[in-house]
Amino acid sequence: MGSIYGRKGPSLRYGVATSAYQTEGGLQATNWAGWEKRRDPDGRPTIADGSRCGRATDSWERFDEDLACLTWLGVDVYRFSVEWSRVEPIRGYIDEAALDRYREWCVKLRAAAIAPMVTLHHFSEPAWFSGGGGFAGAGGMGAWLRFVELVEGRLGDLVDEWLTLNEPVGYVVQGWLRGVWPPGSQDPTQAARVLEQILLAHAAAYQLLHRGAARRGRSCAVGLAHHHVVFRPETRRPWDRWATRAVDASYNRAVPRALQTGELRLWLPGLRYRARHPSLVGTQDFFGLNHYQPLRVSLGWLGDGPLPGLHIGASDRGEHDDLGLELDPTSLSEAVRAVAAYGLPIHITENGTCDGAVPDERRCRQLVAALESVEALRAAGVDVRSYVHWTLVDSFEWAYGWSAPFGLFRLDRQTRQRKPDEAAYLYRDLIRRNRESLAES
Ligand code: BGC
Repeated sequence: MGSIYGRKGPSLRYGVATSAYQTEGGLQATNWAGWEKRRDPDGRPTIADGSRCGRATDSWERFDEDLACLTWLGVDVYRFSVEWSRVEPIRGYIDEAALDRYREWCVKLRAAAIAPMVTLHHFSEPAWFSGGGGFAGAGGMGAWLRFVELVEGRLGDLVDEWLTLNEPVGYVVQGWLRGVWPPGSQDPTQAARVLEQILLAHAAAYQLLHRGAARRGRSCAVGLAHHHVVFRPETRRPWDRWATRAVDASYNRAVPRALQTGELRLWLPGLRYRARHPSLVGTQDFFGLNHYQPLRVSLGWLGDGPLPGLHIGASDRGEHDDLGLELDPTSLSEAVRAVAAYGLPIHITENGTCDGAVPDERRCRQLVAALESVEALRAAGVDVRSYVHWTLVDSFEWAYGWSAPFGLFRLDRQTRQRKPDEAAYLYRDLIRRNRESLAES
């Protein structure tokens, strides 16, 4: 554990990340509101435990409580998202008071010496937008850019770091390939088209945010949060190894490569897709990395998913989190090394563990391992600037509903009170001790 403390040079920033839909509560105009109420054709609820997001952690009304948790932890960065469906619940109708409230959050964060890192699209979007075909629909790009411009106009003097999108590949895989998120489709070619469109939306937002900052005589850093999964072959058989490389290339590498070269290439069983867009090139100032647990890949002859024969899932080996995913203290380091190849400064924009046990002993172990790997990577010269933990308080976990707790703080769902679990004390202690040893050096 000693290696976490006291490294000379620019210090690592510590943070916590959340997203609006999972925390704010009361969001009626998002595409997720309708999705939660639907059932699969076989009668199963779209949210595995049948729950609804409802008031979530009530962060819209309890931001000051969240801020108290953040200052208690002593973090440097708070990553949160601005909810488009709150700002523009009906096409063309702007809720100015909502924008004011986000502004107030940024002011309060800065006053507490916590940098706001703002995400503009974290999976949820207005129902009117998705209903019109979303990013791939006619007028989708224009609507998106008007939203980005609005947010930049209101928060641009307070925000230095922006994430345009959260996990574009995850958004497309869950919504258009696996069909477990809205719009519930299983169409590989459409998935690829949507991915292409959202990358164009990212690139246009990148330019817009920079133009906004330049008009104010400031600068800002813009990126997106990539989900990088460490894929491992289920067996040593050559076809499993081949499938693992193909999945890694399409899931992990296709988007960063497209943002470097302008060429998007996807190649999986049942899907081949190529597109070229010079406007994508150079539209990341940093690499935003979201990393969780590794997955195993195998290739069989049969399968009823949209990509024939391809199986991706958790392994039976070792210890698991509450979602049945394999806990692996080494995979974060592997992921960081993989993305370091793009030559950009790295912000770990999400990393965490689903652990509902009290005390959250698995989360503690994973957190220590993560911070040790980050310090080792930095000592080896890898340019990791921030470690942002997912998440502050147990929140609504998309298709898993309320049954997948990732919070450093436990939520009492009746009173909405936040209570630190062991990992919160641990994180706070690590941050504090690291600061003290930096001050001494
Ligand atoms: C997403 C979060 C989610 C977390 C834990 C990330 O991929 O960005 O919204 O809660 O994973 O599953």
